[in-house]
Amino acid sequence: VLCDIGFIGLGVMGKNLVLNLADNGFNIAAFDLSDEKVQAVIAQDEAENATDTPRVYGCSSYTELLSQLKAPHLIVLSVPAGAPVDQVCENLIGAGIQPDDIIIDTGNSLWTDTVAREKKYKSNFLLFSSAVSGGEVGARFGPSLMPSGSPYAWARVKPIWEAIAAKVDAETGKPIDRTKPGQVITEGEPCAAYIGPAGAGHYVKMVHNGIEYADMQIICEAYHVLKSGLNLTCDEIADIFAQWNDGPLDSYLMEISVEVLRHKSTDTNTPLVELILDKAGQKGTGLWTAMSSLEVGCPAPTIAQAVYARSISSFKELRTQASSLLEGPQLAPLSAAEQQQVIEQLHDAMYCAKICAYAQGFQLMKLAAKEHGWVLDFASIAKIWRAGCIIRAAFLQSITNAYERNENLDNLLLDDFFVKELNKRQLNWRKAICHATMQGVPIGALSSSLAYYDSMRSETLPANLLQGQRDFFGAHTFERIDKTAGKKYHVQWSTKGKETILVDG
Ligand code: 6PG
Repeated sequence: VLCDIGFIGLGVMGKNLVLNLADNGFNIAAFDLSDEKVQAVIAQDEAENATDTPRVYGCSSYTELLSQLKAPHLIVLSVPAGAPVDQVCENLIGAGIQPDDIIIDTGNSLWTDTVAREKKYKSNFLLFSSAVSGGEVGARFGPSLMPSGSPYAWARVKPIWEAIAAKVDAETGKPIDRTKPGQVITEGEPCAAYIGPAGAGHYVKMVHNGIEYADMQIICEAYHVLKSGLNLTCDEIADIFAQWNDGPLDSYLMEISVEVLRHKSTDTNTPLVELILDKAGQKGTGLWTAMSSLEVGCPAPTIAQAVYARSISSFKELRTQASSLLEGPQLAPLSAAEQQQVIEQLHDAMYCAKICAYAQGFQLMKLAAKEHGWVLDFASIAKIWRAGCIIRAAFLQSITNAYERNENLDNLLLDDFFVKELNKRQLNWRKAICHATMQGVPIGALSSSLAYYDSMRSETLPANLLQGQRDFFGAHTFERIDKTAGKKYHVQWSTKGKETILVDG
């Protein structure tokens, strides 16, 4: 029997996607350069498969893989972004892939690479892309999928993607649980929606990851304030986070942070998190988001700050050296009542900063879409992030609602719901930042979000002086608020009293 889908790359994500596909009734021809990985997925399928018919067929070459598939071939790649994707594509061309065959790249490819690849391989096969979010558990039991590329390919991929994606209860907007091998969810709204032409899906996934960086950093800063500022234990912090996870901060990242904080090392029986080296890794998607925000000219300081926070963390030796030289504040410990206040303020600070991070990410997608000619449906993007993905959170329903109210919303900070939330909590946000600053705890994401918020709500910014400076040294000209818009002026600044000269207009 020929298989429905070919699968290449059986690492953690690949293996779990294969098993998810198999649970949903698709037969898979699976290949990996490591035969051990091929055997591992077959063994796991045998162990989990309730039927007698094998669902995964192991292949030992690209040619064998193609020969085991129904035509036109549909092949899913789960290989690291970058050169490996091209290597596999070239190998499939060598093995005889056909122009109407479809290859789906599920990695975190740079979106511009995806656009280039679609063109490059046009005469060889159809490159479709679908970023996958949700880590290994998501891949196994329902990820969030961001497909993009040819609509013809999407028509073929859609039923498969909708079957394996995470599902959301249409009425409550909450994820529908799927936790066991063999379990299949057919009801609910699938977290898989067509994003747009080649590159759009990877762009949206890149921004998802930029928001993920910000979300994670905001939680880490709150942990730092509670730990270093208030001297709470990991278990106490876990209790606070668990309680917050029941309100507007309810999210997967909060949930796993509670588990990480509670975990004790089996060697020492002390919190493992305190034994983890404080140097953060990164694979690039957060950096790409920050770079794109600068290129597009969209302010995304919380996301950029989250990338910087990872960079600063990596300079462990430098920080250790500086820690013995540079002073911080010496403050008396807080009373129990004051501590309680700080904890409440910190909750609001996290929530407001989180709103700003999402506002930045969504505005970035909007501006990028305009630049690249994509028509992005933001309500639909928020919807497919409600379950399956790493940034899944109750809060995504509020974002969905905001874009359903107004599909042309320029920035989430203008939506009624978020206006109310921010207005209600901004004072506490400021107090939390004052407290952390006076304690000497670095809170770049929380405070850069506040600066973003204050800038966005300022009708007047000091860019008037900046324009004066630019005109002074470089004759870069400026506009005047008391004259016709668009007219450019220049002044001989050093010759006091000299008249403004109209340059243009
Ligand atoms: C997801 C994740 C996933 C992964 C990234 C980020 O949505 O499932 O974003 O894609 O965790 O690789 O990793 P870094 O933190 O290493 O950049």
